[in-house]
Amino acid sequence: MKDKFYLTSAIAYTSAKPHIGNTYEIVLCDAIARYKRFKGYDVYFQTGTDEHGEKIEIKAKEAGIEPQEFVDNVSNEIKTIWDLMGASYDKFVRTTDKKHEKIVQKIFKKMYDKDDIYLGKYEGWYCIPCESFFTETQLVDGKCPDCGRDVEKKSEDAYFFRLSKYQDRLVEYIESHPDFIKPESRKNEMLNNFIKPGLQDLCVTRSSFDWGIKCPVDDKHVIYVWLDALTNYITNIGYDPDSNNEEFNKLWPADIHIVGKDIIRFHTIYWPCFLMSLDLPLPKQVFGHPWLVVEGGKMSKSKGNVIYADDLVNKYGVDAVRYYLLHEIPFASDGMLTIDLLEERINSDLVNVLGNLVNRTITMIHKYFDGQVSLSKEYDEIDKDLIDTIKDMDSKIEDKMKNLEIGKSIDEVFEVLRRSNKYIDETMPWSLAKDETKKDRLNDVLYNLLESIRICAVYLESFIPTTAKDILSQLNTLDKSTEFGSVKEYNVNEAKILFQRIDKNK
Ligand code: MSP
Repeated sequence: MKDKFYLTSAIAYTSAKPHIGNTYEIVLCDAIARYKRFKGYDVYFQTGTDEHGEKIEIKAKEAGIEPQEFVDNVSNEIKTIWDLMGASYDKFVRTTDKKHEKIVQKIFKKMYDKDDIYLGKYEGWYCIPCESFFTETQLVDGKCPDCGRDVEKKSEDAYFFRLSKYQDRLVEYIESHPDFIKPESRKNEMLNNFIKPGLQDLCVTRSSFDWGIKCPVDDKHVIYVWLDALTNYITNIGYDPDSNNEEFNKLWPADIHIVGKDIIRFHTIYWPCFLMSLDLPLPKQVFGHPWLVVEGGKMSKSKGNVIYADDLVNKYGVDAVRYYLLHEIPFASDGMLTIDLLEERINSDLVNVLGNLVNRTITMIHKYFDGQVSLSKEYDEIDKDLIDTIKDMDSKIEDKMKNLEIGKSIDEVFEVLRRSNKYIDETMPWSLAKDETKKDRLNDVLYNLLESIRICAVYLESFIPTTAKDILSQLNTLDKSTEFGSVKEYNVNEAKILFQRIDKNK
C-alpha cells in the first residue's frame, strides 16, 4: 500500500489572466507532486479557480458580460496556462461548480446550527481588490495592509463566524505541531502578530453584491469568498457534512497546502478554525512560499511590468521557464525575475552544463561506437569517485526536498552534471580513441557518462519533465532506476540540441 500524499495549490482568482507570479506557485506545487510520485507516494494534487466575489462581479460588468461567462473564460485561460507549464494536477476545481456550492451551503448551515455563526453588524474598512475587511488598527497609513490601495468605510448586516471561540485551541495546535506552519518565520509572524493579540469574529456573508453562493439561512446574503474558497480543499474530495465518504476519508487531512505568503494568514487562522467547527482534523502543513518580484515592483498593467508565463514559454520553452522559477526563487525570501537573469541561467546552466554534457557524450558514442556501448567491465578510482557522487545524490536531494528547498535540490543534480563534465576532461575520450588497445576503456568511460546522464534525467523529471523525457529518448531507454549499472546495453539515438544558446547580441 502506497502512502497517500494530498497536496493543494491556492485556487487562483478568475479576475484576470494569471501573471508569472501566480504561475510560479503551480510550478512549485507540480515539482513537489512529481517528486513525491517518484518517491512512491500515491499523490493527489488539486488546483483550480476561485470565482466568486465583488471584484469579479465588477470586472464582468465592465466587460459587458454575465459573471458566469466571465469566470468561464478566465478559468479556461488559467487552466490553459497551468497545462502549458506541464502542471500534473489530478483535479482542477472551480468554486462555481454546483456540487461545491451545495456543500458550502451545507457547511454554512452546520456551523450556523451549532451557533458558530450568528447575525451581527459589520462596520469596517473594506478593500475591494483584496475582498477583505480591516479594522482601523490593521490599516497601514490608512491604506489596505495587503495591497496598499485605498479602502472604503462600509457597514452592513452580516453573519459572523465565532473565530474568537477557537483562539486558544488554535494557539495550542500551532505550538504543539511544529511543522504545521512553514517556514518557521511565518509561524512566528502568525502567532505573535495575528493570533495572540486576539482574534475577532469573522464576517462570513455579504449583502452588498450578488455574485456568490447564496447564504442558506438568509437569501439577502451571499457567502463571503474565503469560506467559499478555503472549503474547496474538502468539498472536492467528497466531504459532505451529512454523509461519510471513502475518498474523503482516504485523502483528508491534506498533507500540504502550498500558498503565497500573502494568504498564509487565511490558511493558518480561518481555515483551521472552520475545520475545528466542523470537527475535522487540520491539514498537516501549510507552506507559505515567497513572492516572485519583477523590476518596477508589484506587477500591474498600468506600470506595464506584467510578465506572463505563456510569453516566456513561447520564447524560451517551458523547461527554461520552469528551471528558472524553481531554481532561482529562494524558499523563504522573495526572488527576482528579469529577462537578463533568465537568459543568463539558460546559457550558463541549461546550455553549458546540461546540454553540453548530453550532446558531447552522445556525439562521441556515435563517432567511436556507432551509438552502442555496454556495461563497464572495470572501474578505476576516477570512475568510483563519479559513481559515489551519483549514489550520494538521492539522500542529498531528499534532505533538501523535505524542507521544500527546491532550488538546492536542483543544485544537487547539477553538481553531478558538472562532475560528469569534469570526468570527460579527466578521462579525455578523444585521446583514448586514438589507441586501439584502449577501446574497452573508452567504452567504459562513455558508459559511465551515459549512466550518470540517465540517472540525473530521472531526478530532473520532477523539475524539467519535458527535457528529462527528451534526454531519456536520446539515450533510447525507458529505464528509470536510479541504480548505477541498471542499463546493460545502450544503443543511443541521434544527439539533438536540448537548449538553444541565447545570443545577447541578436
Ligand atoms: N483566490 C485566492 C486564494 C484562495 S485559496 C483558498 C488568491 N488568489 S490569487 O489569484 O490572488 O493568488 C493565487 C496564488 O498566487 C496565491 O497563493 C498568491 O499568494 C500567489 N501569488 C500571487 N502573486 C504572486 C507573486 N508575485 N509571486 C508568487 N506568488 C504569488 O489569493
